[in-house]
Amino acid sequence: MKPEHLPEFYANVIDSVGDGVIVLDGSGGVILMNPVAEELAGVSRRMCLGQPLSALFRDETLLLEMAEKSASSGMSISDHENILLRRGGRGTPLSVTVSPLLLADGSRAGTIVLLRDLTNIRELEDAVRRADRLSAIGTLAAGLAHEIKNPLGGIRGAAQLLEMELAEDDELRECTGVVLKEVQRVNRIVEELLDLASPRRLNLVGVNLHKVLAHIVFLQQQATKGKAITFQRQLDPSIPPVMADEGRLTQLFLNLIKNAVEAVGESGVIVISSRIVAEYSMTQKGERRSRMVAVEISDDGPGIPPEEKESLFTPFFTTKDKGTGLGLAICQKIVAEHRGMIRVESSQGRGTVFTILLPLVQ
Ligand SMILES: Nc1ncnc2c1ncn2[C@@H]1O[C@H](COP(=O)(O)OP(=O)(O)O)[C@@H](O)[C@H]1O
Ligand SMILES: [Mg+2]
Repeated sequence: MKPEHLPEFYANVIDSVGDGVIVLDGSGGVILMNPVAEELAGVSRRMCLGQPLSALFRDETLLLEMAEKSASSGMSISDHENILLRRGGRGTPLSVTVSPLLLADGSRAGTIVLLRDLTNIRELEDAVRRADRLSAIGTLAAGLAHEIKNPLGGIRGAAQLLEMELAEDDELRECTGVVLKEVQRVNRIVEELLDLASPRRLNLVGVNLHKVLAHIVFLQQQATKGKAITFQRQLDPSIPPVMADEGRLTQLFLNLIKNAVEAVGESGVIVISSRIVAEYSMTQKGERRSRMVAVEISDDGPGIPPEEKESLFTPFFTTKDKGTGLGLAICQKIVAEHRGMIRVESSQGRGTVFTILLPLVQ
C-alpha cells in the first residue's frame, strides 16, 4: 500500500471496529470518533469535533472521571460493570477502557476511549442465571414427579373400574368423571414437569423450520375453527435447514403459538415470521457474533404487564385458570439446549412478540 493511502486506510480500520472508539487530543478535545461511538453517544461526529468528552457524556460522571484519571496518571483504566449510558429513556450497559495515546517517543498525545455495548452479553448472563436456578429446582421436581406418577396411575385405574360398575344413569358417574378429568390434569402437569426437569439427548438433524411451523399452524387453525383468529406467515424462503431436534422445536413453537392463541381469545391476528440475523451467541469459549435464524411469533392480544415480564419463564407462573405455567419454562429450556435465545417484547393493549434465535451452525 502506498504511503499516501495510509491515513485513509487507518480511518477505515477505526470506522470498521465493532466497538465505539473516541480519540481525544492532548487538551481533551475530540479529534476522532467512529460510527459505533456516534450511535452510542447519540450525536454525530461533526457536532463533537473539538468538544470535550463531557459534552458527549454529560451524565456519565464515572466515564468522565476515568478519562481524567487516565490523562493525569498516564495509565490505562477499564470498567466493565458500572457504567450505564442513558439515552432516550433506556439504559445501555457499557464496558469502557480509557488509554493514553502514546507517540513513538513515549510522549502522550491524547487519550483513546473504547466503548463496548454490553446489552447482549448481559442478556446472555441473565439467561444462564435463570438456567442455573432451573436446574436446582429441576432435580427436586423430577423426583417429586416420578413419585406422583405411580399413585396417579392407581387412582385412574380405580376410577375407571368404579365407572364400569356404575349404571349408565347413576349420579355418581359425575364424580368418577371429575376424578378422571382431574387425574388427567395432574398427569399433564407431571409430564410437563418431567419434560422440564429431565436432561435430554438431542436428536440433531437438518430441520426445515418452515415445514415445522406450517404443520403447527395447520393444527392450530383446525383447533380454533369457529373463532375469528387469522394466522399470517411471513417466512424468508432462503433460510437453510437448522441443525436441531425436530420434536423439541415442534414443542417450542407449539407452546408459543398456543400462548398466542390463548392471548387473543375469540379473535385476533397471529403473525409468524422468520429471517436471518447476525447476533451474539454463547459458545463454550464465550460469546461470539454469528448468523442466526430469528422466528417471531406475534399476537395482538392484551400484552403482558411490565411487572409480570420477569416471572414469565419461572415454572408454575400462570395467569390462566387452567394453565400449568410450565410452557414458557419448557420453551426456555429447549432454546438453551439448542444454544439459542428467547426474547419477549410486549406493550399492554397492543400485543406480544416472542422472538426465538437459533444458531445456523451448531
Ligand atoms: N402471547 C402472550 N400474551 C400474553 N401473555 C402471555 C403470552 N404468552 C405467555 N403469557 C403469559 O405468561 C404466562 C405463562 O405462560 P406459560 O408458561 O405458557 O404457562 P400457561 O400458558 O400454562 O399459563 C401465561 O399465563 C400468560 O400470563
Ligand atoms: Mg402456555
